[in-house]
Amino acid sequence: MKSCSQPLPALAEAGLPSLAVERAGGEGERVGERGASAIASAEQDAAGAGREGGSMTTTPVRQTVTVTVNGQEYTREVPTYRTLVDFIRYDLGLTGTKEACSVGVCGACTIELDGRIAASCITLAVRADGANITTIEGVADGDTLHPVQEAFINHGGFQCGACTPGQIMAAKALLEHNSSPTEAEIKEWMMGNLCRCTGYYQIIESIQAAAEAK
Ligand code: FES
Ligand code: FES
Repeated sequence: MKSCSQPLPALAEAGLPSLAVERAGGEGERVGERGASAIASAEQDAAGAGREGGSMTTTPVRQTVTVTVNGQEYTREVPTYRTLVDFIRYDLGLTGTKEACSVGVCGACTIELDGRIAASCITLAVRADGANITTIEGVADGDTLHPVQEAFINHGGFQCGACTPGQIMAAKALLEHNSSPTEAEIKEWMMGNLCRCTGYYQIIESIQAAAEAK
């Protein structure tokens, strides 16, 4: 993944800053970029040089993005303010990834981006150009579910399911880094994934079961 400290090419051309934050839940394993809406509005300001007589013309800067998602390569031209979650859901049609808070807090939109989990609602699609992405659709091996998916089913780790793809992506990343986490380690790692149905006990139980099954 490109460094978060580098400004976007289009924004740099416009003399605009790139806003980014890195969220640690483990040494830099959770990554996100903040300010898509701020950037979008800044870009609109920059593009809005055509404001005359009360009318405003805004031409979004577009950029070609090529990514590999779940082993398949996709190329799309998108506005530079397109968030990665919108890109995945609406441009690629992979609707397993959910969006809830849209501000990088709830973890519903968690995906794996070049080996690290990331909040796709606060990551710009153009930042993912050239990246290797795994979404919830790519977690199972054909018809064989991932052990974390099996455990969530067997231990009731979901209710409405809105948070579940993000929970599973985060739990999978945890077990790849720590194959037998303690309950405290699970709670700490999963802090960035909220469940509005509040089924936290079953989520922890599911992750413990998946760890034991591996
Ligand atoms: S929707 Fe992305 S963190 Fe909540
Ligand atoms: S299962 Fe409903 S929000 Fe978590």
